[in-house]
Amino acid sequence: MVPTGEDLVRAVRAAGIGDERLLDAVRATPREGFVPPDARADAYHDVPVPIGHGQVTTQPSLSAMMIDSLGLGGTEHVLEIGTGLGFQTALLARLAAGVVTVERVPDLAHRARRNLARQGVRNVELRVGDGSGGVPERAPYDAILVSAAFPDVPAPLVEQLRLGGRLVQPIGPGGREQVVCFARTPTGLERRRLVTPASFVRLRGRYGFPT
Ligand SMILES: C[S@@+](CC[C@H](N)C(=O)[O-])C[C@H]1O[C@@H](n2cnc3c(N)ncnc32)[C@H](O)[C@@H]1O
Repeated sequence: MVPTGEDLVRAVRAAGIGDERLLDAVRATPREGFVPPDARADAYHDVPVPIGHGQVTTQPSLSAMMIDSLGLGGTEHVLEIGTGLGFQTALLARLAAGVVTVERVPDLAHRARRNLARQGVRNVELRVGDGSGGVPERAPYDAILVSAAFPDVPAPLVEQLRLGGRLVQPIGPGGREQVVCFARTPTGLERRRLVTPASFVRLRGRYGFPT
């Protein structure tokens, strides 16, 4: 049988996600609109897909676990670093009031913008460039999702997260990370929980690995 969006919903449930809003967002977001044409056969398998430039999409169940850790209720202003082709951005856009997302590879950003527009996603502001220093002019954020790995959370992202806000990031050297959810406190970031071990591409830029 040809896999469908329901197969992704099942995979996300199997990963421990019970939030019906998040499951509905997965159901309502056709992943085939966010993968390269030659990868459409894999769109509804819970696997990462190569997108060029040495990058891959995040596995849908992993995106869902990261989003779940942010505890979004629908009113939040969210920052995402690492748009890729925009699938995770589209999920965030369904679950929050608005999303500022940054992608450093112009070709990926261009394709993500087109994908989001085709799916009618309007509450996303997509920027091209180095997002490792965040987007200070749109701060503070209620939640920040970093989609690429670095051993520490970049200091500007901590500053741009509002008090009580959550940030999730793969912590590690690139290739073997611990995805960790943090909360912003008056003194900085407090580690809340390990979301899952995972393997991510590197965060590159001024506050990440050298480009
Ligand atoms: C795992 S991939 C794509 C993740 C995407 N959110 C998804 O759901 O498929 C990580 C992305 O982060 C981007 N990236 C790495 N460093 C970045 C930076 N400093 N600023 C913005 N994007 C960055 C890469 O180009 C890549 O597209």
